[in-house]
Amino acid sequence: MGDYILEMRNITKEFPGVRALNNVNFKVRPGEIHALCGENGAGKSTLMKILSGVYPYGTYDGAIIINGEEQRFNNIASSEAAGIAIINQELTLVKQLTVGENIFLGNEPNKHGVINWHQLYYESKKWMAAVKLDINPQTKVANLGVGHQQMVEIAKALSKKAKILILDEPSAALTENEVDTLMDILRTLKNNGVTCIYISHKINEIFEIADTVTVLRDGETIATKPIDQTTENEVIAMMVGRELSNRFPRINHETGEVIFEVKNYNVFDPDNPQRKLVDNVSFSVRRGEILGIAGLMGAGRTELMSSIFGGFPGESYGEVYINGQKVEIKSPLDAINNGLAMVTEDRKRYGLVLIHDVKKNLTLANLKKYCKSGVINANEEIHDSEKIVNTLSIKTPSLETKVNNLSGGNQQKVVVGKWLLTQPLILIMDEPTRGIDVGAKYEIYSIMNELKKQGVAIIMISSELPEILGMSDRILVIHEGKINGEFKHDEASQEKIMLAATGGN
Ligand SMILES: Nc1ncnc2c1ncn2[C@@H]1O[C@H](COP(=O)(O)OP(=O)(O)OP(=O)(O)O)[C@@H](O)[C@H]1O
Ligand SMILES: [Mg+2]
Repeated sequence: MGDYILEMRNITKEFPGVRALNNVNFKVRPGEIHALCGENGAGKSTLMKILSGVYPYGTYDGAIIINGEEQRFNNIASSEAAGIAIINQELTLVKQLTVGENIFLGNEPNKHGVINWHQLYYESKKWMAAVKLDINPQTKVANLGVGHQQMVEIAKALSKKAKILILDEPSAALTENEVDTLMDILRTLKNNGVTCIYISHKINEIFEIADTVTVLRDGETIATKPIDQTTENEVIAMMVGRELSNRFPRINHETGEVIFEVKNYNVFDPDNPQRKLVDNVSFSVRRGEILGIAGLMGAGRTELMSSIFGGFPGESYGEVYINGQKVEIKSPLDAINNGLAMVTEDRKRYGLVLIHDVKKNLTLANLKKYCKSGVINANEEIHDSEKIVNTLSIKTPSLETKVNNLSGGNQQKVVVGKWLLTQPLILIMDEPTRGIDVGAKYEIYSIMNELKKQGVAIIMISSELPEILGMSDRILVIHEGKINGEFKHDEASQEKIMLAATGGN
């Protein structure tokens, strides 16, 4: 009995139309880092939401046993009282509050009910230091990028001093450097006796950090293995139920003429108009070419591309040419009308309308096509949506399912699908496979190949170096708002890109 700090026995959970978990058994030893793996929709987040009281006792079947005692959580507070803290897959910070306020939300240091602000910000700094976050704790969360927000989430969970810490894809929004910091944090926690349950689609991370791995597939437990008794390929095979021979199916394809050109482009910080985020950047992309854009978090990659797309609040100047014609893009609508599309990195903020259903989200950017003289052609809408759901294997009970009921990875596929339907000439993808499992990544890469053959120019911002190296025909590296390196597919390497990204040459 004493062997396990946590046992989840025969857990079954149903949602309308889906059995998300079917008799799952999950056992965790004290002090270990236990990785939980599985494809998008396998049931990982649902299992962890049961453990953390998001889905209370009575809404699932089975038992949760902690240190030999059965627990029946009514809500998140009761699981926290039992020593469990969760960092959810989707960020849950309150954007309008400061970093410090978020860390201590609902838990503010106070005297006779009056918040002690001095202490709150003083202690925030302590937890921020633990995640190596060097910013002012009075910064509003709305002004942070997703990577920093993720670090705040971790600081917040640490402040609860949990015995069992659940991290649901904490690294999806982080750059390589930040992931290294996260790995250090996990090692420190382990040394302090904290048990961690770690969900990630990045297999290399799991093999770097975990002691044990459990694989779920279609809501069932496939296996639990000590990490030193399995291999990356075996874990992937257990996840997808088949062998994947090549993770990056890049094709060599003749590129066409230059279709997109950016000259002397500059972007300024909306909060500090003196500060340049992008400094005199020029580049071009050819038809049928995949241009990878690498760089560290905060290098200005997202600001550059979203400003070109007409969706960034800061001032900008510079020239943009499509097919040799100069264009003025003042809004995303101008961009779409000029043949551009952009898959954004933060699907909650820009990508999806969560309360709308799958079909509506898929067709949102393309309403012009379905709307003839003010009437929506519902059949065409359904036909196109079904096609996308099939080609991307989006796991959804129906086209009418609200997107906030889909698993995280399937939400990302809806964002990609939405832009594919606009049939763009130039497709910008910002972290296109963030949070997507290996099988679905392969599907997205295959679609990029298809688009390449059709002559679409693709610009892919990515913090995952294997993806940049595996899929790009050419790679630009951005450092502090400037281009600090350009490599052809065959001459690029992980070392060269990291060197350029950190300012070397
Ligand atoms: N609130 C909900 N309502 C209806 N169905 C849901 C809900 N939450 C999850 N599901 C369904 O349950 C299944 C498991 O989803 P879950 O979010 O646990 O997957 P996951 O393994 O975390 O996937 P990902 O890697 O994409 O995050 C999916 O089919 C999903 O659509
Ligand atoms: Mg999930």
